[in-house]
Amino acid sequence: MLVFDKLTKRFGANTAVDNVSFTVDRPMMIGIIGASGAGKSTLLRMMNRLTDASSGALAFEGQNVLALKGAAVRAWQSQCAMIFQQFNLVPRMDVVSNVLHGTLNRRSTLATLFNLYPQADIHRAIDILERLGIADHAAKRAEALSGGQQQRVAIARALMQDPKIILADEPIASLDPMNAQIVMDALRRIHEEDGRTVIANLHTLDTARQYCDRVIGMRAGRVVFDGRPEQLTTGAARDIYGANAGFSEHATSTSIAALERAQPGLAPKIPA
Ligand SMILES: Nc1ncnc2c1ncn2[C@@H]1O[C@H](COP(=O)(O)OP(=O)(O)OP(=O)(O)O)[C@@H](O)[C@H]1O
Ligand SMILES: [Mg+2]
Repeated sequence: MLVFDKLTKRFGANTAVDNVSFTVDRPMMIGIIGASGAGKSTLLRMMNRLTDASSGALAFEGQNVLALKGAAVRAWQSQCAMIFQQFNLVPRMDVVSNVLHGTLNRRSTLATLFNLYPQADIHRAIDILERLGIADHAAKRAEALSGGQQQRVAIARALMQDPKIILADEPIASLDPMNAQIVMDALRRIHEEDGRTVIANLHTLDTARQYCDRVIGMRAGRVVFDGRPEQLTTGAARDIYGANAGFSEHATSTSIAALERAQPGLAPKIPA
């Protein structure tokens, strides 16, 4: 389905992504982990054609993604919708309009200019918000929502494009543990119920272990681990992060359970 072949990105003398090769042969949820600067974001950005590769190839269902031009790039970008750590919503615009922005790639400039959305799209936007549990906020400005709610709006916007792949660059890095869990649960459900592939850069080991079918570990631009979450032992993690013997899993953890262990009583409680 998705084939990475020696994908490489150089910035001057610095090789951010170094000969990355792996294959995704069925829809799955993949977590990419690694220390800061390991090349995780650059890898996603190359996939989505936000940045050009220096060398190597990327194929999706037999199509050479890196050779696409113009409108074909935009079509590909709707096929692999991206969500970001900072949500990237239009803060002063209402939630539904933010979600409808997900249809921009297939609408005329004139319709966009006059904010004309087909009734069917509006209904679909509301349905998607409903599914994500935030339809009650549809008429509010995006900026009035909590971080976790805003990230779900960003997911809804991505779903509007009916993508085969969802790329998420640290989707929960700005969220508290409870909202992080809600957002990860939503991504997992979208994978399981819709059969979409989710590829998420994650900065915590336990999130990758808990939610992903496959974990890819990057270090200095290279893939140094590619396996099932249960193979991701503390030793393997130490190799990925290049940490010394003092490596602590708490340092890479945001889960409520781990927070409880580290700071008893301080973790927020999930309402029943
Ligand atoms: N636009 C750019 N110009 C120059 N160098 C860049 C650029 N973007 C990334 N890099 C470099 O490429 C390397 C990989 O960066 P990248 O952002 O992909 O890492 P990351 O794994 O996402 O890190 P983090 O966990 O901090 O988000 C780093 O050395 C970074 O400085
Ligand atoms: Mg990054």
